[in-house]
Amino acid sequence: MEIHAYEKLWLGAALLLIVGFIGTVAFGAVGAGVDMIDDDGGTVDPGALDQHPKFGDPGVYQSGPNEYDVYVVAQQFQFQPGTAEAIEVPVDSTVTFHVTSADVIHGFEVVGTNANTMAIPGQVSTFTVETDEVRDHGIVCNEYCGSAHHAMEGTVKVVPDDEFNATDGGA
Ligand code: CUA
Repeated sequence: MEIHAYEKLWLGAALLLIVGFIGTVAFGAVGAGVDMIDDDGGTVDPGALDQHPKFGDPGVYQSGPNEYDVYVVAQQFQFQPGTAEAIEVPVDSTVTFHVTSADVIHGFEVVGTNANTMAIPGQVSTFTVETDEVRDHGIVCNEYCGSAHHAMEGTVKVVPDDEFNATDGGA
């Protein structure tokens, strides 16, 4: 069988495109510093968060030198902490967020970063970030969660070391 030269050329081009598409999808999924959030964070009783040792008093807990855990409860239509009071963490530290929901599924996205997770009732989502710059970040809910979804937002403040005091809980 004879294949026309142009046909071969287009076959080759089409194959290259397919490989290229798969490549960009694969890179988007596992490259570019992307970490998927799985069920490592464990589970929690969404109806009894107030009795949980950390979610009962959500906030910033120091876990080591320059290491912090931040416990956040999302519920219609606020992040606690985050909305009424900003989440404050020191610069140049390693911060692990633990996010859950007290009611429906919410989103927890730190705007302008790749820190982004769903907040699922019963489930704890955890992810770790390095704070490398003093600045404020907005937090938005990016899962439709009810009538005031669009207004559900908060703030993460990355502050200089000397302005930081771990008043919330802390160890
Ligand atoms: Cu919470 Cu949308």
